[in-house]
Amino acid sequence: MPVIEKEYARLATPPATSSWGEVRDASRECMACHLYKRATQTVFGEGPKDALIMLVGEQPGDYEDVAGKPFVGPAGKIMDQALEGAGIDRSHVYVTNAVKHFKWEPRGKRRIHKKPNSREIAACRPWLEAELRLVKPKLLVCLGATAAQAVFGPSFRVTRERGKVLSSRFAPKVLATVHPSSLLRQPDEESRQREYKRFVLDLRTAVKVAAE
Ligand code: URA
Repeated sequence: MPVIEKEYARLATPPATSSWGEVRDASRECMACHLYKRATQTVFGEGPKDALIMLVGEQPGDYEDVAGKPFVGPAGKIMDQALEGAGIDRSHVYVTNAVKHFKWEPRGKRRIHKKPNSREIAACRPWLEAELRLVKPKLLVCLGATAAQAVFGPSFRVTRERGKVLSSRFAPKVLATVHPSSLLRQPDEESRQREYKRFVLDLRTAVKVAAE
């Protein structure tokens, strides 16, 4: 077996404790896959430990890697704006990522985001499971394909299942929508506005479902 495969074969092993702080501290030492080597730090989730809604993104980006906090860069700004548009105060939701280290490759002086693969997602999933075990949200909102595939497996398609209330072994109710960074990549202002409105509508559905 090549060395790299051996490395991928490991899964994160969160401690079986009811202390969120202990789990977060343990995640800082995670070496279950190779991504820790290039990242500045583990970016664990944040938010109230009794939140009704948990939002899960893909992985920390450049800003998050430096700050050590999820969704504080451009995607986080647009997400916060959309949450506000849906009547959700970000401080009331728990925000995390499927993968807790920034995966990137150098291009000149820049660090270019690289999508995590299914083995990296699987290696990191025990941290997400531990967050779900501790927070027990009524609703898990998957932001984009990586988060949705971490929960439902690689054949899941956000385009097909978007906005539906689903269930999984990870959470009683799960809703998948697009990743906020997809709004930043729209080709023109008109499509940006249209997609932004659809995203806000999905978040409004999330509020209703979590309140049921
Ligand atoms: N994109 C994500 O998926 N998560 C972050 O924390 C930031 C950008």
